[in-house]
Amino acid sequence: MTLMNDYRGPHLTLPHRVVMAPMTRLRSLPDGSPTADVADYYAQRAGAGLIVTEGLWPHSSGQSEAWVPGLQTPAHVAGWRRVTEAVHEAGGRIFAQLMHGGRKGHPLARIDGTLPAGPSAVSDGDVLHLIDGGKAAAPTPRQMSRAEIHAAVAHYAAAAHNALDAGFDGVEIHGANSYLVHQFLADNTNLRTDEYGGSLSNRMRFALEVTDAVAAAAGPERTGIRLSPGNPQFAMREADPAPLYRALVDELDRRGLAYLHLTDNDDYPALADLRPRWHGTLIANVGENRAATGAEAAERALHAGHADLVSFGRAFIANPDLVHRIRHGLPLAEYREEVLYGRTAEGYTDYPAWDAACVGSSAA
Ligand SMILES: Cc1cc2nc3c(=O)[nH]c(=O)nc-3n(C[C@H](O)[C@H](O)[C@H](O)COP(=O)(O)O)c2cc1C
Repeated sequence: MTLMNDYRGPHLTLPHRVVMAPMTRLRSLPDGSPTADVADYYAQRAGAGLIVTEGLWPHSSGQSEAWVPGLQTPAHVAGWRRVTEAVHEAGGRIFAQLMHGGRKGHPLARIDGTLPAGPSAVSDGDVLHLIDGGKAAAPTPRQMSRAEIHAAVAHYAAAAHNALDAGFDGVEIHGANSYLVHQFLADNTNLRTDEYGGSLSNRMRFALEVTDAVAAAAGPERTGIRLSPGNPQFAMREADPAPLYRALVDELDRRGLAYLHLTDNDDYPALADLRPRWHGTLIANVGENRAATGAEAAERALHAGHADLVSFGRAFIANPDLVHRIRHGLPLAEYREEVLYGRTAEGYTDYPAWDAACVGSSAA
């Protein structure tokens, strides 16, 4: 089985095995509504078997940075409806990633101007984009009250409902890379002594409550979840990830979800360890903290039986027709780091497809 084989899973039928990984690009309006450029960007990449959007905040209290899009208001829903229509018209499928920043945020980076709150008052010191165009380190967050935790669960469910209204094919819960769900799972960011902290089952509680609430709103068959066991990015330290993630994956496995999206890293071989416990669709991301995922690494993950599908992140930035290039062994373009984030179409929708690039160079 190779990347270009079709996929018929319990809840997903795709023409091949290449998924576009979620990537924050900071191209939305200050209120969190996606622009027409966002629709163009995703439509250009509709050749992916499945697109997972950049992370969207379910509620303004979960906004991590300026110009990160939201999925809370009617304006957001209307904006994302234009995106899903453009992708569907181009023949693609698209899930919305629900990304709550938790501790990751700054009052000057978010439309509601509030101090961020996480499981505990522990900062990651991440440098964030502010509304005025500057950058600043994340301040020490507040510890969420239990009422705020319950409200956050409800916010994920409301956003899942909004996602279906906006025409998304499903939602992915961002449980990875140091965002709120991950902050509850990890022992260095969750110092709580109530039922949301301490033991493994307590640290898993928020992830499972969110999953159940989202699955109730969107249907389990339209709910995916992304996890990054042991990922040390953004000052996350998970002393012993294996027991927690084994227990969590066992719990999730019972829920009949659309997929598990798992990122591997050098410290803990999550794919090899957890794949046998997951009986549904597994999307692997093999690039975290490594070189950008390429076709060879992706084929290795499929060949090893670690995944049904493989997500590519950075390679999609400068190669809107990535699948065409992989299929025909064509060279990949490199993206321009200086316009990775920004508020214009430059470095966003101006990367040509291979055929257009060839026409351009022969005309020159
Ligand atoms: C610019 C950029 C933005 C990202 N934003 C997100 C995000 O919003 N949500 C998420 O789960 N991962 C995010 N990631 C991680 C990617 O989804 C992916 O896991 C990572 O880039 C490794 O895969 P790759 O080697 O194929 O790029 C981001 C990565 C990049 C490069």
